[in-house]
Amino acid sequence: MRRVGFVGWRGMVGSVLMDRMREEGDFAWIPEPEFFTTSQIGAAGPDVGRGAVTLSDAYDLDLLSTLDAIVTCQGSDYTKEIHPQLRERGWGGYWIDASSAMRLERNSVIVLDPVNRPVIDAALAAGKRDFIGGNCTVSLMLMAIGGLFREGLVEWVSAMTYQAASGAGAKNMRELLLQMGALQDAAGAALDDPAAAILDIDRAVTAAMRADRFPREQFGVPLAGSLIPWIDSPMPSGQSREEWKGQVETNKILGREDRPIPVDGICVRVGAMRCHSQGLTIKLTRDIPLAEAETIIAAANPWVQVIPNDREETVRRLSPAAVTGALTVPVGRLRKLSMGGEYLSAFTVGDQLLWGAAEPLRRMLTLLRD
Ligand code: HSE
Repeated sequence: MRRVGFVGWRGMVGSVLMDRMREEGDFAWIPEPEFFTTSQIGAAGPDVGRGAVTLSDAYDLDLLSTLDAIVTCQGSDYTKEIHPQLRERGWGGYWIDASSAMRLERNSVIVLDPVNRPVIDAALAAGKRDFIGGNCTVSLMLMAIGGLFREGLVEWVSAMTYQAASGAGAKNMRELLLQMGALQDAAGAALDDPAAAILDIDRAVTAAMRADRFPREQFGVPLAGSLIPWIDSPMPSGQSREEWKGQVETNKILGREDRPIPVDGICVRVGAMRCHSQGLTIKLTRDIPLAEAETIIAAANPWVQVIPNDREETVRRLSPAAVTGALTVPVGRLRKLSMGGEYLSAFTVGDQLLWGAAEPLRRMLTLLRD
């Protein structure tokens, strides 16, 4: 593996990927990285410790088809346009993709190696070449409770999500902050006056939130001070596409599309920046002691962290504020629900840009190292 091309490396997921690759020294084993652009051909590429690099044309099929692997964070439109043309030309390199465009195709593998390394290894042995990052919510759920799936302990899961603005894109993160600022501006000087009536402040804030000039170009509605219980497009089932992906992608990642485990719930956008949280109800296949479930969850991979079901530990360690920027995936609020011994609750938080997007791609690339 000498020649690896990177497309969409400047965007939000691409930038996180570049940072992680630099941190891990991955460019040391890629002698000829090639950086692509859709708009700035010849401009300076990123500093990856190999001196000055210039950007190549992301639509140059002749050049792309000389590469051993292409890693793209450019988005679905690019994938749909370029990937079929490269394969039609007989290109046999590895395509590693952050977008959802090819995720469910028969020849694609959804990569999350701490959870599905055997599925990835079997695909590599079978000569598969398309390796796609999963939906962030699904990947983070599996990083958190993958141990229970591995042990055959999951009959079904209901995931109620609290998803960050970053999942909708960089512009949405900016808009969330603008909305927060607009709410504080609406409260104005009354906020500094302890004698001001809170219901007057609330009225001013609510009026600002509902005003035409409230920034809502990206989300369409207020998110700051509110929430949005719908993510992505509607499906005929009444689910949102984000909810529909839960079951489909979980089972594809686990390589069990033929005997799927039901996964369903309600996906909600909240005013967090880049960490998705999920409240899980897990129907176990059998009633095992809570301590055993905790041990199985904690042992599944080096990143999952079981947080004791204790108030202080929970509020300190199990929140977007605590987890942002970290590869650790804490899971807490583990207890048996009053419905019975087979019903386990869990709450998990994960950085949507790390394990939810960039890290599975980075690790897939390292699996291809010579
Ligand atoms: N669809 C996810 C979201 C992000 O909107 O939060 C990408 O997996």
